[in-house]
Amino acid sequence: MKKIQISPSILSADFGQLGKEIKRLEDAGADMIHVDVMDGHFVPNLTIGPPVIKALKDKSSMIFDVHLMISPVHKYIDAYSEAGADIITIHPEATSSLIDSINKIKKLKKKVGVSLNPETKIDVIKDLLDRIDLVLIMSVNPGFGGQKFMPEVLDKIKELKKIQESKNIDFDIEIDGGINFENSKIAINAGANILVSGTTIFKSNNGDIKKNIHLLKSH
Ligand code: DX5
Ligand code: ZN
Repeated sequence: MKKIQISPSILSADFGQLGKEIKRLEDAGADMIHVDVMDGHFVPNLTIGPPVIKALKDKSSMIFDVHLMISPVHKYIDAYSEAGADIITIHPEATSSLIDSINKIKKLKKKVGVSLNPETKIDVIKDLLDRIDLVLIMSVNPGFGGQKFMPEVLDKIKELKKIQESKNIDFDIEIDGGINFENSKIAINAGANILVSGTTIFKSNNGDIKKNIHLLKSH
């Protein structure tokens, strides 16, 4: 059984003091930092880009789990790699050649993730699973924090878990969107080993992020 990891999404953090927020997450036992990059084109929201990521990375030793909700994505991969992304996750719909973009990330010696929106089937990546390090299953439509969890995506996680076991290939299964204390156990039991959470971690229990991370981890 893979170790369960928590990747807090800084989309729900105080953008006025992101450096301090990342330090808080580090001290609270987060395993990595989920950075939601949005371009206002692939998704109807705009967040941060390479300069902010670089400024944050220079102040932190945490793993930066960078979720690129941008398109076209291929030509920007270098910039996020140089800014300090450790895991670069892209959406298949955002590149004209998924395998070329995967190979580009691998060539940069970064971990490569592919993110599937709720309506995207796993067929899109079935033949690429031995080339990727992480599958990010969206349990909300990408663009905003605080949305309602979509349980129907759990079937995709179960299917991925079966493939992992039958083909004996190793990749992380990360779930992202609407994760809270009620559904985290269901997600883990389905086969997810990395949980992304923004609202639950930053807003529950009067913002006690150490407690919230611990509660999400204990299953
Ligand atoms: C949505 C982002 C998610 C989201 C998770 O597009 O990819 O990471 O911020 O936030 P919560 O946990 O608030 O749903
Ligand atoms: Zn995300």
